[in-house]
Amino acid sequence: EKGGYATFMEKEIYEQPHAVRDTLLGRTDVEGRLVLDDMSITADQLRDVDRITIVACGTAAYAGMVAKYAIEHWTRIPVEVSLAHEFRYSDPIATERTLIVSISQSGETMDTLMAVKHARELGAMTLSICNTHGSTIPRESDAVLYTHAGPEIAVASTKAFLAQITACYILGLYLAQLRGGTFADDAQSVMKELHEVPSKLEDLLGRMDRVKEIARFMADTRSVLFLGRNVGFPVALEGALKLKELAYIHAEGFAAGELKHGPIALIEAGQPVFIVVPGPGTPHELHKKVVSNIQEIRARGARTIVVAEDGDEDVVPFADEVIRVPATSPLLAPLLTVVPLQVFALHLSSAKGLDVDQPRNLAKSVTVE
Ligand code: M6R
Repeated sequence: EKGGYATFMEKEIYEQPHAVRDTLLGRTDVEGRLVLDDMSITADQLRDVDRITIVACGTAAYAGMVAKYAIEHWTRIPVEVSLAHEFRYSDPIATERTLIVSISQSGETMDTLMAVKHARELGAMTLSICNTHGSTIPRESDAVLYTHAGPEIAVASTKAFLAQITACYILGLYLAQLRGGTFADDAQSVMKELHEVPSKLEDLLGRMDRVKEIARFMADTRSVLFLGRNVGFPVALEGALKLKELAYIHAEGFAAGELKHGPIALIEAGQPVFIVVPGPGTPHELHKKVVSNIQEIRARGARTIVVAEDGDEDVVPFADEVIRVPATSPLLAPLLTVVPLQVFALHLSSAKGLDVDQPRNLAKSVTVE
């Protein structure tokens, strides 16, 4: 049932092009407009939404962080991301014009379920992005947008993460379409690019040999840092979480802009640092800024492992290793840049002889608060 792969996690990593493709399937009509047929909140209600709060835990919350950048950019609706357990026991602001979006692979995460129930008590609309048909969270929500990643067996989430990000994009683009005008035009062209991602993922998964080698060489490493900016920031957090879960290595993800506000003090000779580099086309000169971050940490002895787009030569002088990913538009990049980080964690874990699919102390769905 592992289809020739050594572990479920590896199989699921290689199923990611399908997970994205299937989640996108049937979402556009003949004119290229987005269709959401499993949505029971009306279009009028959605047009009225003036605030979105995403509630989720762990990897699903990182998908939510990616979504915040994208949905705010495409729709100009304010989006907040709240860890579900923090949302539940705070005093969140929600009205009948607030859309609470929960993200959960299992649909059974108790923390997320409690947040959704709380949101309903507050009178907000609730939409569940979920991978498991008929599970509790979608049943407790006003509307559902199912991800079609297929069953995820490995405790560490991979293909569900990509499918969650894809579903969030679909939601954001749908909201943009409802806004009409240039919002809708832009949404159409992003949707086109989104449809190109699965084949780029196939290409990327075919070039992971060097990442596997790097992981094997690093089996004795005690600490790894991950840096990213904008949508690359949650990717850095996810890379660190994967490494903690699978290889029991101390790992931290940072927003690269925070470096000089503290974390740069951690850099010493030989410290491995992954840097997720925004494509050269990213607004606000973010590419240049991250390249200068790489330069700064390299000058302090860091071992820099750089995840950069094909053709980005600016990173080369400061990189000990360059991991190439196919180019895409900046907000869609997480669907590609996270893949080498997943593969790295998987192979470091197996190089250490650990149980990749069932890491210690963890359960696939966390059904207690
Ligand atoms: O089933 P859910 O998506 O609600 O699970 C949320 C988290 O428990 C989950 O993503 C967890 O962080 C994973 N083990 C990450 O690999």
